[in-house]
Amino acid sequence: MVTETLKGRSLLTWLDYTTDEIRLFLDISKQVKEEKQRGEIHRRFTGKTLALLFEKLSTRTRSAFETAFGEEEGYPVFLGKDDIHLGVKESLEDTARVLGRMFTAIEFRGYKQSTAETLAKYSEVPVYNGLTDDFHPTQALADILTLEENFGDVHGKKLCFIGDGRNNVVRSLMVIGSKLGLNLWIITPKVLSPDQVLLTKCLEHSKHTGAKITVSAELSAVKDADAIYTDVWASMGEENKKEERVRLLKPYQVNTALMEKSGRKDTIFMHDLPAIKGEEVTASVIDGKQSRAWDQAENRKHTIKAIMLATINGTSD
Ligand code: CP
Ligand code: NVA
Repeated sequence: MVTETLKGRSLLTWLDYTTDEIRLFLDISKQVKEEKQRGEIHRRFTGKTLALLFEKLSTRTRSAFETAFGEEEGYPVFLGKDDIHLGVKESLEDTARVLGRMFTAIEFRGYKQSTAETLAKYSEVPVYNGLTDDFHPTQALADILTLEENFGDVHGKKLCFIGDGRNNVVRSLMVIGSKLGLNLWIITPKVLSPDQVLLTKCLEHSKHTGAKITVSAELSAVKDADAIYTDVWASMGEENKKEERVRLLKPYQVNTALMEKSGRKDTIFMHDLPAIKGEEVTASVIDGKQSRAWDQAENRKHTIKAIMLATINGTSD
C-alpha cells in the first residue's frame, strides 16, 4: 500500500490525522499481521536507524518498536534516561538536531508532550510518541485493531473505559474514537472526569463521524457494551496520588459482577497493561475467556510496524 501523504510525518497524537489516514494505518497493520502469521520475512528497514528514548519504564512499547524495526534489518538504538544528555547539559533542541542527523526516526516515551513536540520540530525526522502524560497514540491504534478483530468496523461499537477518566490511555481513545465513529463511554467518578478542552475538540470531530462520547459515574452504563476497558488507577509519574485513587476507584474495579452487568456473554475485556491484578481488575477477568489483553499486547507490534512503514518508507510493499 502506498502512503505518500504519511511519509515523513510524526505521530504525536491522533489529533493530527484524518479518519482516512487512520484507516490506512489500520489496513497496513492488518497486512503486516497477516504476513507474520504466514511466516514471511521482509527487509523493509534495511539501512535505517531508530532512536528509542525512554524517560519512563516500558515492556511492550520498547519491545514492539525494537523487534518490529530490527527484524526487518533496521538498526534500533535504546537510549535510556541515564544514557544521554536529554534535557541535561545540552538543550533539548540541540539533542534533537543531533539525533536527526544520525537517525531515520525517533521514538520518545516520557513525561511532557512538549518534549515529543520539540524533538519532532528540531530533529526534522519522524518522531513517535511512545507515551507521554497526555497521550499514548500507538496503544490506541492497537486497541482499535483488537476491537475490529472481534467486532468488525468500530463505527457505532460501544466501548466503556472504566477508571481514571483523565489519563493518557483514555485521552487517546477519545481522539481516535471520535475520528472513527466509536461510541465511547467514560465511566469515572466526577472528580476524574475528562479534560473539557480535549472533550470539546473530540465532540467537534464526532459531528463529522457520528462518534459519541458519554461521561458517567454509574456502573450501570456498561449495559450492552461490546468492550469494557480499564487501566491502572495511578499512571507512571503519579505515584504520590496512589492512595487517593484507590479510595476513589475501588468501586470501579472490573470484576466478574461488573462484566455481567453488560448483559452480554460476548463482551470483551481490554487492558493496555501492565495490570495490577486485584486493583483495577481481578485475575479472574484478565486471565479469563473474555480477556483480549494479550491480543492487544501483540497488536502493539503490528501497529507500530505499520506506523513506521507508512511514515518512514511511504509504502508497506
Ligand atoms: N501498554 C504499554 O505501553 O506497555 P509498556 O508500558 O510495557 O510499554
Ligand atoms: N496510564 C498508564 C499506561 C501505561 C502503559 C501510565 O501512563 O502509566
